[in-house]
Amino acid sequence: MEAAVEIANLSKNYGKIRALDNISLTIPSTSIFGYLGPNGAGKTTTMKVLAGLLHYNQGSVRIFGEEVKTAPASQKRLFGFLPDATLPRNYKIERFLRVSAHMHSISDLENTIRSVMQKVGLFNLRLRKIGSLSKGQKQRVGLANALLADPPLLILDEPNAGLDPLGRVKILQILKDLVTDGKTILLSSHIIGEVDKIATDLAIIHQGKILEQGKRESITKEILGQSKFIVGGKMDISRVKSLDYIVSCDIDHLNRYVIQVTDEHLSTDRLLLDLIQKVEAQIQYFSSAEVSLEEHFLEKIKNLISEEDSA
Ligand SMILES: Nc1ncnc2c1ncn2[C@@H]1O[C@H](COP(=O)(O)OP(=O)(O)OP(=O)(O)O)[C@@H](O)[C@H]1O
Ligand SMILES: [Mg+2]
Repeated sequence: MEAAVEIANLSKNYGKIRALDNISLTIPSTSIFGYLGPNGAGKTTTMKVLAGLLHYNQGSVRIFGEEVKTAPASQKRLFGFLPDATLPRNYKIERFLRVSAHMHSISDLENTIRSVMQKVGLFNLRLRKIGSLSKGQKQRVGLANALLADPPLLILDEPNAGLDPLGRVKILQILKDLVTDGKTILLSSHIIGEVDKIATDLAIIHQGKILEQGKRESITKEILGQSKFIVGGKMDISRVKSLDYIVSCDIDHLNRYVIQVTDEHLSTDRLLLDLIQKVEAQIQYFSSAEVSLEEHFLEKIKNLISEEDSA
């Protein structure tokens, strides 16, 4: 099936700042694509380029095969965009959506507005002013707006920003339902735990470069292929690292040793024995733990930052 989005060698500078540095991304149709990265990584810039709101310096950007740079206005129907921006406070929800639908030249206006408000659970609030809504409700207005033209692709910039756990669950459930309807969703976040549960595909961006992308299962598999142990006591870290199956050995904020190993099948006994016999460690306690996607994400970025520091 044709990819929903195909970005190849895209670079974008703001003056001297290189916000996107030769990125390539493929977003498969009907995927929920989690676009993850810390503040300033380049997520919003990528999304604005996709939405045709920013010129870019180099590369190719296609949405359902059409090049964004040269595409006619009809391309606007291919995607809906939820920007990381505020909505007009003095508009009632229904009026705001009506004005926006007019601008999109949407036919069957009243039915469309009613249907999108129902989809995101705002119908009963339709006469409330946007300024009086909670953050979660405002995000749902933005989502309703992105859905007006019934586009096959939704570009959502941090739809969960500032929401409480219940608000997040509500948005994530709406997104899941949209994918069941055949939509493709590109979703950015700086908190991996938010998209981890629903994403089918993931990409991690940092300082304008894509660090990793792929199917969620394969990224997760790589991570789940590793195990982690927490050890209390005293030992020589360099001697721990000299064991051939060690990925890393660090001290955490509770002064415990966090030891990551390459082999998920490595027995607890083997490590414990090696620590006592080969490392001559003094061990007070010992436990095993799973490596989460969140830790993997932070680890990747941490490694990169320390490489830059030492460069
Ligand atoms: N209008 C602009 N002018 C100059 N620099 C900009 C502009 N917009 C973004 N940048 C810079 O480009 C880089 C990428 O910013 P971007 O907004 O895409 O990051 P982001 O991943 O969306 O971050 P956040 O999680 O904080 O929203 C940053 O270094 C930022 O300072
Ligand atoms: Mg942003």
